[in-house]
Amino acid sequence: MHDEPPKGLDRGLTHYGDTEFARFLRRSFALSMGHPREALARPVIGIAHPGGEFNNCHRHFPELVQAVKRGVLAAGGLPMEFPSISLGEPFLHPTSMMFRNLMSMDVEEMIRAQPMDAVVLVGGCDKTVPAQLMGALSAGCPAIQLVGGPMMTGRHRGERLGACTDCRRHWGRYRAGAIDAGEIGAIEGKLATTAGTCAVMGTASTMACVAEALGMMLPHTAAIPAVHADRLRAAEASGAQAVWLARAGLRPDAIVTGKAVDNALRVLLAISGSTNAVLHLTAIAGRLGLPVDAARLNRLSAETPVLVDLKPTGSHYMEDLYAAGGVQAILRELRDLLHLDCLTVTGRTVGELLDEQREAWVDRAVIRPRVEPLKPEGGLLALSGSLAPNGALIKRAAADEALFEHTGRAVVFDTLEDMAERLDAEDLDVRPDDVLVLRNAGPLAAAMPEAGYIPIPAKLARQGVRDMVRISDARMSGTAYGTVVLHVSPEAAAGGPLALVRNGDRIRLSVARRTIDLLVDQAELECRRAAWTPVRPAAQRGYQWLYQRHVMQAEHGCDFDFLRAQARPDDAGDGR
Ligand code: FES
Ligand code: MG
Repeated sequence: MHDEPPKGLDRGLTHYGDTEFARFLRRSFALSMGHPREALARPVIGIAHPGGEFNNCHRHFPELVQAVKRGVLAAGGLPMEFPSISLGEPFLHPTSMMFRNLMSMDVEEMIRAQPMDAVVLVGGCDKTVPAQLMGALSAGCPAIQLVGGPMMTGRHRGERLGACTDCRRHWGRYRAGAIDAGEIGAIEGKLATTAGTCAVMGTASTMACVAEALGMMLPHTAAIPAVHADRLRAAEASGAQAVWLARAGLRPDAIVTGKAVDNALRVLLAISGSTNAVLHLTAIAGRLGLPVDAARLNRLSAETPVLVDLKPTGSHYMEDLYAAGGVQAILRELRDLLHLDCLTVTGRTVGELLDEQREAWVDRAVIRPRVEPLKPEGGLLALSGSLAPNGALIKRAAADEALFEHTGRAVVFDTLEDMAERLDAEDLDVRPDDVLVLRNAGPLAAAMPEAGYIPIPAKLARQGVRDMVRISDARMSGTAYGTVVLHVSPEAAAGGPLALVRNGDRIRLSVARRTIDLLVDQAELECRRAAWTPVRPAAQRGYQWLYQRHVMQAEHGCDFDFLRAQARPDDAGDGR
């Protein structure tokens, strides 16, 4: 800390031999914005604002940013809001995942290019928080994460509804013919009724919890609903804390260490969070050269119980998690598993923050005690085997235990288009105990869409089939559920064995052994490989060209190879 005092508007001053003239020019333009002259000497706090009307989840951000500014001003800083790319999940083509790295580059470069002593990252919708953390970690500037907070639930005929687990559940009922077009139309207007991010433990909520567990966000703030007055107070406090961070010179690499990544993984497992968070946390940690590998995930998963009863794996919503005690209550339950010496943006350690809240109340319907967990082991598990030599992922807490040990016949869809065309065909040769395989939907082939939650073929859905083993190199929405094996690596387009699967092959999933295997002998696979031609994406220009040349596979978090840092010594080690 204190390695560099705030430089304010003098930071990164470009001059061509006459520093004083450059300073004079910068000050005069800053004065043109109406700041009082004495304010120009204050620490400058950048506020990264990914707004815009293509992001419904962020529609309250203007108000939130004003509250951040109040906090900065009250603490003696000069707030300077700046825009960044916004990634509104439902409105991006081909996938939001393709643009996460672009947003991270935008955030990194604008933090570096503009004169700020600290930055408040205001994010929310799925990819925005990881993109901001990746960018801020690479930029190295003192930073604090603030999230927009979750939506409130809506109501339909007395039933609570929240995006987007209930979207999927009701759509599944509609596909199966259980409800009609009129009712699904009524539900459509009640799933997302306020500002904020999806109301369940989807990717946005998971990443908010992960950011708090990493120490990059003020305690007690991840789960505050978007429309709650506490959200505005959290924004104001985050602004004030950014001024402290600027003065203290506390950089994110002092907070995000290998131990902090362990703490974040513990929380991810205990909340049974989104599978996407594994990719994002891998990419975030990778910006500091910190590894997140399958062995580590499984080691922590074996000893971290699921404690939080939220959809999609449980029954509550984010507003309930906030009322129940939020992330700090989860950390208190996990206390003996955590690295308590990790520093947070408050300047205090995780342990010191927990010491202050010994008597806090907890709603046990939502956050279970360690002695009575929802599941004895963590929600996520890494798999490997002959079908996924470099790994795959399953959210076991959202899967059907009857399918944990399952061998079945492969029904292969070669591309997203092939799946869309044939999935609901009456003549599709598919049985309930088959294994649905989707390929050429990985990071390189298709920018990894959330297509891994392959719908149950219509003819089986109508027979009442609710879950099947599904395997792909795609991702799945954090709000989805089912026995779904994701992130198979190497992906088919990169020559992974997934490319060689044929209809009728046997595939074996074993959650107990953490394996996913293609039961076809090696000689046969080699014949198939000789006849295989890669499906090569071929963007000719622009960002997509850059993306296709530099995106890494899932085990590296799908970051770009040129953005990752050199590996640095891992300080986690013993998992405590
Ligand atoms: Fe933004 Fe779900 S669409 S969080
Ligand atoms: Mg999502």
